[in-house]
Amino acid sequence: MNNYSEKFEKMRIAGNLAARTLDMLTENIKPGISTDYIDKLSYEFIRDNGGYSAPLFYRGFKKSLCTSLNHVVCHGVPSDRVLNEGDALNIDVTAIINDYYGDTSRMFCVGKTPVKLNNLINTTYEAMIRAIKILKPGIKLGDIGFEIQSFVEKNGFSVVRDFCGHGISNTFHELPNVLHYGKKNTGMELRPGMTFTIEPMINAGKYDVKVLADGWTAVTKDKSLSAQFEHTIGITENGYEIFTESVKGYSKPPYL
Ligand code: MF3
Ligand code: CO
Ligand code: CO
Repeated sequence: MNNYSEKFEKMRIAGNLAARTLDMLTENIKPGISTDYIDKLSYEFIRDNGGYSAPLFYRGFKKSLCTSLNHVVCHGVPSDRVLNEGDALNIDVTAIINDYYGDTSRMFCVGKTPVKLNNLINTTYEAMIRAIKILKPGIKLGDIGFEIQSFVEKNGFSVVRDFCGHGISNTFHELPNVLHYGKKNTGMELRPGMTFTIEPMINAGKYDVKVLADGWTAVTKDKSLSAQFEHTIGITENGYEIFTESVKGYSKPPYL
């Protein structure tokens, strides 16, 4: 036992609900369904499992999750837009249960995946995993950013600057900001009990982003494709725990 074991138990439950929601959605993604339908499936699944969708009514957001298609970087708003063969999308689920939050996103491909898209998705996933693997007390936030940025740029892609990971526990977004670019041995030192997300947004082209008139949808300025994965994690005495691991092994595409 330690002073954060109760918090971690709640984070485990919330993270697991968010992960199971993505697992459920995985089995439903196919050409012809709308992003509103994904929203509805997610809302109902989380509700039926005793939770609540955190995005709904968050700062005026009107849907239960984010669906970010192709050149949408993040915060895509579900709509009557139907999925087509060749689309790639990020689905970002945040569940609240017993006042604690689990926040996780994965990429999904509709039908066959073009090679270029596959490289982008694999690099984004690998960047997140590499950053998670170095986590332990004593390292600094800048080490996370460095790990992601150096790996992504070596692969010819760019790291979005305008959005970052965040502390998360019994509030959705709290300090610290977790930047996905940076320099080794800079920034706040990690300590046991800290809980935050790592959620790199990686563009095939330049890193510049703009937000559309709806106030939410962030797209790449150069219209290049963008990918993202997100885990909620906790720092332990000598490493880390991932709270949002897939229960079904659906970590990255292809899933089925
Ligand atoms: N889930 C997003 C994150 O990773 C935040 C979405 S806020 C919303 O932080 F309002 F757009 F849903
Ligand atoms: Co997040
Ligand atoms: Co999220």
